Amino acid sequence: MPWTQILFRMLEVFPQTKTYFSHYADLSVKSSQVRTHGKKIIDAITSAVNHIDDITGTLSSLSTLHANTLRVDPANFKLLSHTILVVLALYFPAEFTPEVHLACDKFLARVSHVLADKYR
Ligand code: HEM
Repeated sequence: MPWTQILFRMLEVFPQTKTYFSHYADLSVKSSQVRTHGKKIIDAITSAVNHIDDITGTLSSLSTLHANTLRVDPANFKLLSHTILVVLALYFPAEFTPEVHLACDKFLARVSHVLADKYR
C-alpha cells in the first residue's frame, strides 16, 4: 500500500527527520511502527480532504500536537509533502497528470500551513 512507503521514504531521503522518530525500534520499510504511522498520516490527510472547507478546525488538535508537544520544525512539512507527491506519482502514474500534481501540491501546502499555524 502506498502509505507504507510515505514515512519510510521521508526518513530515508531526508535522514535528518529520523530524529523525531528515535523512539521507534525499527525505521526500516518493514517496521510495523513506520507502516502504522504512515497510515495515520494518510488518514489525517483524508480527513482534511473530507472537510476541505474547514481544514483548520479538522487539524486543530494535530497542529497543537506538532507545535507544542512534538516541536517538529515546520521546514519538515515540506519534506513530507514532497515525499507524498513522489509516492502518489509512483503508485498512480496514469492519474498523476500535471493538473493533479498541482492540485495535490496546493492542498498539501495548505495542510502544512495549518499544521504549522500554532508555532507563532
Ligand atoms: C504524529 C499527521 C507531519 C512527526 C502524528 C499523528 C498524525 C500525524 C495523524 C498521530 C497523532 C496521534 O496519534 O494522536 C501528520 C500529517 C503531517 C505530519 C498529516 C503532514 C502532512 C509530520 C512531520 C514530522 C512529524 C513533517 C517530522 C518530521 C510526527 C511524530 C509523531 C507524529 C514524531 C508521533 C509519532 C509516534 O510517537 O508514533 N502525525 N504529521 N509529523 N508526527 Fe506527524
